[in-house]
Amino acid sequence: MKKVLLLLVSLYSLWMQAQHSSIQIVPQPVEVRVTDTLQFRLQQEAAICLSETDLEPTGNYLSAYLEQYLGLRTHLQMPAKKQKKGQQMRQEAAITLINLHNDSISGGYRLSITPQGGVTVQGNDAAGVFYGVQTLIQLLPTQAGIVPLLPAVEVTDYPRFAYRGMHLDVVRHFFPVAFIKRYLDYMALHKLNFFHWHLTDDQGWRIQLKCRPELTEVGAYRDGEIVGYYPGKYQPLPYGGYYTQEEVAEVVRYAQERHITVIPEIDIPGHCMAVLATYPAFSTTPDAEQSCARTWGIYNRFNNVLAPTEEVFTFLSDVFTELCSLFPGPYIHLGGDECAKKWWKASESTQQFMREQGLKDEKELQSYFVHHVQEVIQRNGKRAIGWDEVLEGGISKECIIMNWRRPTHGIHALEAGNQTIFACSGWYYLNKKESRLQQEIGPNGPLTLQKVYEFEAVPDTLTAEQLSRVMGVQGCLWTEYTQNTWKAEFNLFPRLAALAESAWSQPAVKSWEEFSKKMVKQIDRYELWGARYNDAFLRQEDIERKR
Ligand code: ACM
Repeated sequence: MKKVLLLLVSLYSLWMQAQHSSIQIVPQPVEVRVTDTLQFRLQQEAAICLSETDLEPTGNYLSAYLEQYLGLRTHLQMPAKKQKKGQQMRQEAAITLINLHNDSISGGYRLSITPQGGVTVQGNDAAGVFYGVQTLIQLLPTQAGIVPLLPAVEVTDYPRFAYRGMHLDVVRHFFPVAFIKRYLDYMALHKLNFFHWHLTDDQGWRIQLKCRPELTEVGAYRDGEIVGYYPGKYQPLPYGGYYTQEEVAEVVRYAQERHITVIPEIDIPGHCMAVLATYPAFSTTPDAEQSCARTWGIYNRFNNVLAPTEEVFTFLSDVFTELCSLFPGPYIHLGGDECAKKWWKASESTQQFMREQGLKDEKELQSYFVHHVQEVIQRNGKRAIGWDEVLEGGISKECIIMNWRRPTHGIHALEAGNQTIFACSGWYYLNKKESRLQQEIGPNGPLTLQKVYEFEAVPDTLTAEQLSRVMGVQGCLWTEYTQNTWKAEFNLFPRLAALAESAWSQPAVKSWEEFSKKMVKQIDRYELWGARYNDAFLRQEDIERKR
């Protein structure tokens, strides 16, 4: 009898272990506990019950996911008092979404699934409910036509960082609104919450502004671009595009429904050839012909910069004021990177301006520009973000530093008292090829999945106060060699999952070994979502298995 009992107990624990290992959530939650051997079966026509009407977008989101990917129809039940006549017969909810409105960490949630009671998501706030739903999605089948049996679990979870960003350069190559929405969906599925939209650069201006319509009439188009890697071969094929203000509003609304804040970037005072193509008088060589750049990189070669004149500062005030009115989020990115200062050095009128303003070098002039724009942004009730070069000529503590170069620049920003986002190019620029064998992806790299995963931007030498100013991390997708959505997705996946785990999961629950095992299922999800992905990692695994 005792032996039978022992056997049963071991079978039970083996079964529970198997259950546990079949639960593969990315990013890894704080705690996952399997509570029963039985499962909950999600039925057709299941009811999703909301604790308040404000959760309707999240309820609709889940409902749409279940229908689109798994062919499961569900319907929303509003809070009792809001129900319309004839809806009094409330069906027992299969999924209940509750906003606790408590003061705990924003985005935190508890997900509970029991064989009889179904699914309950309790979020600390609306964002928490949304992330609980994302975890629920990861417990669903990765193919339509499979009975959705959900494991009995208790998941307790909250994000490591408040800022979990992803950037997209829509200048070097332009992506339509339909893809921007897809990008936002991908971000949401990985629990990322800030979309950094790189809207202007040397090669084009991609946002319609009513105060300066010429910026898109002229600056949104270039005559052609290079084919192949820099210096490549120039091909005169006109290229362009921009987002109308209606499209911008649509993107902002779509993002909000997914608890994503959009951060627009207008890059100044360098990376401004599209502005100068529109207004040649704004350059340090006003009599020279200006055009949108037709090639990439090597910024000191061609990229002229804004000259410090009254017209230019008025222009910047107008542009950033209108930009602030289009984006409800708290942050505006002003660029500030890779400004080719040689143009200022060579310009007598610029040197005269610097003498008049008591600016000792071109770094201080760059800082003068940044301060001017920062003031406009702050006057409009928002905060400025700048790439880490903005530290060089002096910067106020209110400016958030986005560290794209080596992490030492980010540490320096923290030491200087600024809030910092780590987007270090060596690890988080996802446009790099993942394997040397994938030369067609671009000249830079390789950047393997493991390298992205194992990067820890935050050293343990920081003081608690400095640590409190680390806002989070961000991945970037520059598009010089990413000409289409196929390549964009190929570059993103599965490295976005690695980034997401560094952004969301606590260091104590991170493990490369466990994460790499989860990738097989993650790839199934990408297949379900119709996303292209890079299989370099899987092929590497195959190679190693065969050894
Ligand atoms: C950058 O990569 N120049 C921000």
